[in-house]
Amino acid sequence: MDTSYFSKFYKKTRLEKIQALLDANILTEEDKQFLTQAPLLSDELANSMVENQLTQYALPLGVALNLMVDGKEYAVPMVTEEPSVIAAASSAAKTIAQAGGFDTTSTKRRMIGQVALTAVPDTTHAQKQLKLHKKDVLNKANQAHPSIVKRGGGADEVMVRFIEATEKSPEFLVVHVYIDVQEAMGANIVNTMMEAIAPYLEMLTGGKVLMGILSNYATECLATAACRIPVDLLKREGLSGETVRDRLIEAAQFAYADPYRAVTHNKGIMNGIDAVVLASGNDWRAIEAGAHAYAARSGQYRALSNWEKADNGDLLGSLTLPMPIGFVGGSITIHPTAQFSQRLLSVKNAKELESVIVSVGLGQNFAALKALVTEGIQKGHMGLQAKSLAISAGATDHWIELVADELKKAPHMNLETAKTLLNKIKNK
Ligand code: MEV
Repeated sequence: MDTSYFSKFYKKTRLEKIQALLDANILTEEDKQFLTQAPLLSDELANSMVENQLTQYALPLGVALNLMVDGKEYAVPMVTEEPSVIAAASSAAKTIAQAGGFDTTSTKRRMIGQVALTAVPDTTHAQKQLKLHKKDVLNKANQAHPSIVKRGGGADEVMVRFIEATEKSPEFLVVHVYIDVQEAMGANIVNTMMEAIAPYLEMLTGGKVLMGILSNYATECLATAACRIPVDLLKREGLSGETVRDRLIEAAQFAYADPYRAVTHNKGIMNGIDAVVLASGNDWRAIEAGAHAYAARSGQYRALSNWEKADNGDLLGSLTLPMPIGFVGGSITIHPTAQFSQRLLSVKNAKELESVIVSVGLGQNFAALKALVTEGIQKGHMGLQAKSLAISAGATDHWIELVADELKKAPHMNLETAKTLLNKIKNK
């Protein structure tokens, strides 16, 4: 990737940005055409994606540059309505690229299917039966979806969980099946398999099946990103790199200890993660739900990321979370902008996409914490919100930039000020 085209990228017009990505060989002529003709869904496609479709809801898709993951540089598509997210992702990516980039690891991509059984007459006997007939359970699951087996995946493990009765719930015997879904997100594969094995599980256990469904708590599909940042890269005006590092570590400790802070800390991580997940055509609610459950895995809701000091004084960051995204299937294959995102990212498979997404999440967290423990978040945030405020005040065309520039200098950046400035500028 030739990054010489990216100098002052954020200052370029939209068309200049597209041209710079074309010149850097990240986009093709077809991509340029796609981006310059409003890339809406066809009526036919939009109408077939959901029930009762009325129109389309547009959000900006932008690009975060300089993300270095496992030695490869990425231009990352991000869809978000929040003005500071892409700027923060790009700035963090740049600093971390100077430090060598992100290193990632991931587990095998296995989804968990659940079948819940109630009214099992003898749970000890049922558990024995399930253990004894584990191979048959797996065979029946795989027979229900032979194409995933042909592609090298399929059901490969059965686990049984017993959930005791409480004042508010009866006891449950829950059968978990681990399924390698290859490049798919896998909800349909898993749900088909769970429904198919349900009658056999009733027969084996003597219980009643309540439901068979994928669990979005994808603890068998985890992705981790890590980075190591020398303190030299952390210096701010009036603050040494060591001070910024120590304050950032304390910020992470605060989010580890306090759920009120942890939720906001993790929300900042999800700002980046959701934006890429959405751009890639994936189910961001599944990623959100899994991430928050993982944050609470100790019994207390805690920070998803971890920041600490290395022996040589560098800042070490890491983030692990369930990342059950897909690379094919569902809306990913049919949505033209999701397809464009795959081309822009130039990832080859679901694992590589997982690595990029979890790295963006860690970078986003780094940017937020660094701002919070130094100049505060409002300076950067409000600067980027100036244009939205100008538009809310009624500015159009070239007035937007003019009002936004004046707003950034004003002591109180709010709608009132934006309206006053717009009037003043127009009547000059
Ligand atoms: C705002 O969208 C996200 C932050 O609040 C995250 C954080 O506090 O860590 C800035």
